[in-house]
Amino acid sequence: MSYKDQIDLQKLPRHIAVIMDGNGRWAKGKGKLRIFGHHNGVLSVRDVVEGAGDLGIEYLTLYTFSAENWNRPTFEVNAIMELLISTINKEIAKLMKNNVRLNAIGDLNQLPAKCHKELSNAIEKTSVNTGLVLTLALSYSSRQEIMQAAINLAAKVQNGELQPGDIDEKMFEDNLYTAGMPNPELLIRTSGEYRISNYLLWQIAYAELYFTSKLWPDFRREDLYEAILDYQKRERRFGMISEQVN
Ligand code: FPP
Repeated sequence: MSYKDQIDLQKLPRHIAVIMDGNGRWAKGKGKLRIFGHHNGVLSVRDVVEGAGDLGIEYLTLYTFSAENWNRPTFEVNAIMELLISTINKEIAKLMKNNVRLNAIGDLNQLPAKCHKELSNAIEKTSVNTGLVLTLALSYSSRQEIMQAAINLAAKVQNGELQPGDIDEKMFEDNLYTAGMPNPELLIRTSGEYRISNYLLWQIAYAELYFTSKLWPDFRREDLYEAILDYQKRERRFGMISEQVN
């Protein structure tokens, strides 16, 4: 039986977050330039997005470019930005066909104007779709996101709109980039690294973490399904004891 057939559709995670890692090593292993890995990483993105949509996952959030990634060699940064522009452009028709709504989180103003424009167009165009919400984390830093939420709330306190004691978790969450989205129940990281790398630090407080040694360009929908099956075998206790949650 395939992994997909074994998945309990009544117990799907609503939101899956992914740290797509290992493009560079994948390319190096083949004696190619790192950008070859990013190009092949797009094929994995396509397959995983389709696989998630097919299954009925509601939210998929992909760590596409971190705020720290700006420090990579200019050649690589430019190549990733070009790849983003061309991919978004090429994939719009497919996103529409598959009823996928595109979304983005991060400091999007840092993106090159052309990339920002292409992204905004695609977000606008796909906003009518009602299926999977595909969020790209771009120029994203979780610490910056949390700090910005604190700054927004502090400003409201300063101008008298809020009392410090009015601030609760819900209000804090409403000031994050992910406002309105459920927190991920499952976080997947590829490439055998066991790190969170400044990704969704607030949102993954209770997420199940899944690490695989597969490099991102080798990761396909069957691997996603395997991760979901693993998630479904876990007991999520949220600080309680086993008898309370069963
Ligand atoms: C991590 O591998 C990958 C990235 C920083 C870029 C991710 C970009 C893509 C998959 C392509 C564009 C995506 C979309 C959604 C259009 P790495 O370069 O850190 O690999 P390494 O750890 O082996 O060096």
